Amino acid sequence: MKIVVTGGCGFIGSALVRLLLGQEWSDAHRVLTIDRLSYAASTEALADVAGSPNHALAKIDIRSGEKIAGLLASFTPDAVIHLAAETHVDRSIDDPSPFITHNIEGTFTLLEAVRRHWRALSGERRDRFRFIHVSTDEVFGALADGTPPFAPHAPYRPSSPYAASKAASDHLVRSWHHTYGLPAIVTNCTNNYGPFQFPEKLIPLTIIKALAGEPIPIYGRGDNIRDWIHVEDHARALLAALERGHPGETYLIGARCERDNLAVVETICAELDRLVPDPAGSRRRLITFVADRPGHDFRYALDPTSACVALDWSPRITFEDGIRYTVAWYAGRRDWWEPILRRRYDGHRLGILA
Ligand code: DAU
Repeated sequence: MKIVVTGGCGFIGSALVRLLLGQEWSDAHRVLTIDRLSYAASTEALADVAGSPNHALAKIDIRSGEKIAGLLASFTPDAVIHLAAETHVDRSIDDPSPFITHNIEGTFTLLEAVRRHWRALSGERRDRFRFIHVSTDEVFGALADGTPPFAPHAPYRPSSPYAASKAASDHLVRSWHHTYGLPAIVTNCTNNYGPFQFPEKLIPLTIIKALAGEPIPIYGRGDNIRDWIHVEDHARALLAALERGHPGETYLIGARCERDNLAVVETICAELDRLVPDPAGSRRRLITFVADRPGHDFRYALDPTSACVALDWSPRITFEDGIRYTVAWYAGRRDWWEPILRRRYDGHRLGILA
């Protein structure tokens, strides 16, 4: 199958590209990665597949409709998996504008180019074509403690500029399916973690601060809850949606793994203490409660049961194993994140109102 992955140099996109091409560079798929190479992109995340004859990378912004149309015409994909997005909630508080242009206008421009490409296909290729839109649980807004996780068809109540921009892009995709018949699928996933995650997010930031012996910032009281999934389990779910998903459907992807932020940070500290003992004592001493995120959603959680059944998919990596792998990965990959800290983001607090 010929597959376009937008945002393929991002954290989740690159995990998907690595999965699609396989460690042995299997010939099952040919992949064209499209990425504008923004601050959070990493071509190193595709180093494993850089020499593959089945992979190509195009540095293009999805808002460049003509360039995207040209690529679709020459590559003639059977599927487009759309992950290109601005993703960081705190940055959307500091400056919402890139979230509106990339997540909403970018998705619109891409949808139009893909619609024209799909309409020009004939016969079986047109019937089998898929557009998979990768989204987030944040579109549903915050859950109260003790209530059931969000199930399919939960109402949209996005809280942050980031979540609102993803909600808008979900609506665009569904309307392109409903109005034009574009064979589109929407997936909404919980919080991801794993290798190559940009160090603005809670888990990599905590590991890097703890390794440096610096204060580990926890917003508010650390009782906010997130539902965690390893990025490789998410990538496998996206492949399952491509292979077995039905156009017009929405799949909620998650690993039934709710943890409050303090528990996540404590697990990381314990793992680092075991792996790289600190003569100064447990890294727990570095935990520092700081001003809360404005509009901080209390809890996210999804019920993935229907996606597990429909897609014949289930997560394989437990949180404890996943954190162990992830801590070991960051401890061993300073060559990846130290240049990022020097050149792109030094770990300072984001998303605080002036
Ligand atoms: O739920 C899925 C979403 O998860 C994705 O759609 C987003 O793209 C992704 O950024 C993530 O959003 P969160 O806001 O949940 O992730 P973040 O890593 O920024 O924060 C996780 C939790 O940790 C959140 O409750 C805020 C808190 N936090 C975060 C940072 C960076 C801290 O307490 N301290 C921190 O330094």
